[in-house]
Formats: sequence, C-alpha cells, structure tokens
Amino acid sequence: MSPQWTVPQLIQQAIKARQQSYSPYSQFAVGAALLSTSGKIYRGCNIENSSYGLTICAERVAIGKAVSEGDRQFSQIVITTQRELLVPPCGACLQVLNEFVPHDFEIILASSTSHFEHYFLHDFLPRPFSFDSHVK
Ligand code: THU
Repeated sequence: MSPQWTVPQLIQQAIKARQQSYSPYSQFAVGAALLSTSGKIYRGCNIENSSYGLTICAERVAIGKAVSEGDRQFSQIVITTQRELLVPPCGACLQVLNEFVPHDFEIILASSTSHFEHYFLHDFLPRPFSFDSHVK
C-alpha cells in the first residue's frame, strides 16, 4: 500500500464517495475508493438510471475516472455500502478490475472505519476471462 494512506483514511474516502450515490431505485448506496500505485485516490459511487440496466456500479465509476486520467496501476480498492454486513463487488466489476490490476490486488470491504476485512481479487474471481485463459 502507498505509505501516505492508512486503511481508515481510505475507508473515509469510500464513505465520502458513497454520500454522492445516486440510487433512488434500489436505495442501495455504494462508495468506492481506488488507490493508484502513485498514491492518488479515485472515488466512485453507483449511478442508477430509470432504465435500470444502464446503472453503473461504484467500482466501475472509480476505475473509469482513473483510466480516463491516464492512471492504470492500482494497489487496492475500498468498497463500502450502507449495510453493516460486508458486501463484495459484483462479477462485472471484478472482471473490469481484473483488466488493470495485479494478481495480488487487494479488495477491502468496509462498513465503517473500524469494521473492515481484507481480500484479494482472486478470492472472488479465481478464474477471470482473458484471451489467454482456457480450461483443459
Ligand atoms: N452496485 C455497486 O455499485 N457495486 C457492486 O459491485 C454491486 C452493486 C450497485 C448497483 C446498484 O445501484 C445497487 O448497487 C444495487 O444493485
């Protein structure tokens, strides 16, 4: 992890992102804070739409912001929802994260600055799609 950010500080950034959530349909606010290896944080929140399938998840907003700013190297992401239970990213977000992150990329699920758990991307997506992947 980049030395200038502690986990509670990253969680605060994800909570700040969640406060911007536009989620009138699900009432399920999600915030993400994506940390680049340069130490920059990209915040994202879910953005829903009355045409439900056009909804964008918080994680993909954060990664889209980063990549569009020219940043493609990340060390971890913090994800927070309004629930006390820790909620992992959806499959689509895992696949999109996989495109840009190393195998040991860390996913921190948090409900508050004092309640969080560390995972790796491969805990949730052990066999991502890529053009090189195949089964026996
Ligand atoms: N959502 C996210 O923002 N990230 C995920 O990984 C899963 C789901 C959002 C999408 C939608 O606005 C709400 O949560 C309920 O599905």
